[in-house]
Amino acid sequence: MEFKTIGIIGAGTMGIGIAADLLFHRMNCILVDITTAALERAKAEIIRIIRFAPLANPSLPKLNVEEAISKITFTTNIEDVYNAEFIIENVPEKWEMKEAVYRELTKVCKPEVNFAVNTSCISVTKVASITDRPDKVIGIHFMNPSYLKNCVEAIKGYHTSEACINNAKALLDQMKKEVILVNDLPGFVTNRISHLFMNEAAFVVQDDVATPAQVDEIFTKCYGHKMGPLETADLIGLDTVVNSLDILYESYQDPKFRCCPLLRKMVDANLLGRKTGKGFYNY
Ligand SMILES: NC(=O)c1ccc[n+]([C@@H]2O[C@H](COP(=O)([O-])OP(=O)(O)OC[C@H]3O[C@@H](n4cnc5c(N)ncnc54)[C@H](O)[C@@H]3O)[C@@H](O)[C@H]2O)c1
Repeated sequence: MEFKTIGIIGAGTMGIGIAADLLFHRMNCILVDITTAALERAKAEIIRIIRFAPLANPSLPKLNVEEAISKITFTTNIEDVYNAEFIIENVPEKWEMKEAVYRELTKVCKPEVNFAVNTSCISVTKVASITDRPDKVIGIHFMNPSYLKNCVEAIKGYHTSEACINNAKALLDQMKKEVILVNDLPGFVTNRISHLFMNEAAFVVQDDVATPAQVDEIFTKCYGHKMGPLETADLIGLDTVVNSLDILYESYQDPKFRCCPLLRKMVDANLLGRKTGKGFYNY
C-alpha cells in the first residue's frame, strides 16, 4: 500500500517537522491544532523548512513552495482527519491531553486506521487502552527534526498487532526511515537513558560545577557526541523534558528520575529553549 494522506495531530515542534518530512516524501497531510495562531506559526515554519532544509541536506528534494504547502490542510477541526489513512499524534507530553485526543480520534477515524503515538515517555499500552483499537496503536518516537533524521524508535504496545507494525513500517519506509522496534515501558530506550543525562547536566549547572557551554563541550569535544545534553534539552523544549521526567518518576517510582529544580524554574520563566528563543542558550 502506498500512503497518500496522513493525519498529524499537534502542530508544535514535532508536528511541524513531521509535516515537512511528509511533503519531502510526496505525501499530503491534514495538520490539526487547537488554535489558528499555532497553525499560522506552523505554516510559516514549514515554508522556511522546505526552502532551507535542502540547502543543509542535499538529499532532500527542492520543492515548489506553493505547490508543497497546498498539500497540507491546516485545521482546528479534528473531524477533518476522517480521510487520513494513518494518524501521527504529537500533542504535549501530558496524559490528560493525549487521553482527550485519543477519545476524539476513536470517534472520528475510520475503524481500519492505525494510530502512532509520538511520545517521549508515556506508555503506548496505556494510550491504546482508551481507544477502540488497541491492536492498531503503535509508538513511533520520531527524532527531532524529523526531516533530517533517518531512523526512529518504534514501540510495540501490549496489544499492538503484527499488521499494525507492518503498516507503520510501510509508512516509515516511504519516509526513508530505518525502524528500531522495542517493547513498551515508559521512556522506552531513548528517553529512559537520555533524560538522566539531561537532568544530571542541569544539576551540574545548578550546583555551579560548570557552565552550560562547558557541560556540552565535554560531551562534544571529549566524548565526540554530535550535541551536548543541554543543547539537546533546548532543542527538545524544556517543558517537554520536565513533563517526561515527571512521567518517568511517577512510572518507576525511582528517585533517579527526580526533576532538577533549575529545569522547573526555567520552565516557569518561559525559558523553554529554541521554541521561545531562550533556554540554556539564546537563539
Ligand atoms: N520535542 C522533541 O524533541 C520531541 C521528540 C520526540 C517526541 N516528542 C514527543 O512528541 C509530542 C509533541 O511534542 P512537541 O515537542 O511537538 O510539543 P509542542 O508543545 O511543541 O507542540 C504540541 C502541539 O500540540 C498542540 N495541541 C495541544 N492539544 C491539542 C489537541 N487537543 N489537538 C491538537 N493539537 C493540540 C499544541 O497547541 C502544540 O502546538 C510529545 O509527546 C513529546 O514528548 C518530542
